[in-house]
Amino acid sequence: MRSIIGLDEFRSARRSLFGTVGLVPTMGYLHEGHLSLIRRAKAECESVILTIFVNPTQFGANEDLSKYPRDLERDLALIAPLGVDLVWMPTAEEMYPAGYQTWVEVEALTKGLEGAMRPSHFKGVTTIVAKLFNAAQAQKAYFGQKDAQQAAVIRQMVRDLNFPLEVVVCPIVREADGLALSSRNKYLEGADRSAAVVLFRALSAAQELYEAGERDAEKLRMRVKAVLETEPRAQLQYVSCADFETLEELELVKGKTLLSIAVFIGKTRLIDNFILG
Ligand code: PAJ
Repeated sequence: MRSIIGLDEFRSARRSLFGTVGLVPTMGYLHEGHLSLIRRAKAECESVILTIFVNPTQFGANEDLSKYPRDLERDLALIAPLGVDLVWMPTAEEMYPAGYQTWVEVEALTKGLEGAMRPSHFKGVTTIVAKLFNAAQAQKAYFGQKDAQQAAVIRQMVRDLNFPLEVVVCPIVREADGLALSSRNKYLEGADRSAAVVLFRALSAAQELYEAGERDAEKLRMRVKAVLETEPRAQLQYVSCADFETLEELELVKGKTLLSIAVFIGKTRLIDNFILG
């Protein structure tokens, strides 16, 4: 495994990789969710590139960029047994030098859900992911269903800009009690950690209703809300029951559907989702 910082050095190391290349982009502070993407890439590709970069342009002014958890030494130790070929950890100065002015934006898909709560977030995500795609020249790129809208937006960008790669979206990895793994779970302390399981409970309750035959999207959203309201530490930001491809809100559920939520547990903002149908 080789760790590289500079773009030129990364490009030349990339040229020496063999066979199908799989790319796993991350912001570090790795957990089993990230590792599941690396394992999948390893199983499907001859060479694997991991990137670790806390991308400043996807954080809003009032978000957690400066306190986003970082621990490169721990990250490198975690992936040591996984057979990653190259780890690229670019600097913000090299990714966004003085005078930087080019952006990639996906339109309709970024308007709702996370995009509505975090204006300019996806512009930062699509721009950095396009830059990583250009540098890595991979045949496959691995993303998590945890960030469902991000996965949909990147699939759209790949189609629209004709990136010659396949986007592979991997299932959400959860703690034993159902909490979806996230680097931000580190912020959950004491009673907030146990309260956070309410996201999984709320989505599960709506899924049960769906499986019992309910197809009225508003009834499914109401079920999620009702369970979240039983947890005093939880503050719902949004609940969405939307078409899986277009992310448009539904009245009636038919076909593949994304049930997704954003919830504050104390000061920590968490997102989670289930796929129905
Ligand atoms: P980050 O939050 O570090 O996540 C990196 C990848 O891991 C994303 O594709 C995310 O969906 C996936 N992931 C996170 N938690 C997961 C879980 N519990 N189960 C499965 N996959 C999980 O997402 C980003 O970074 C950034 O926006 C990035 C794409 C790297 C661009 O900066």
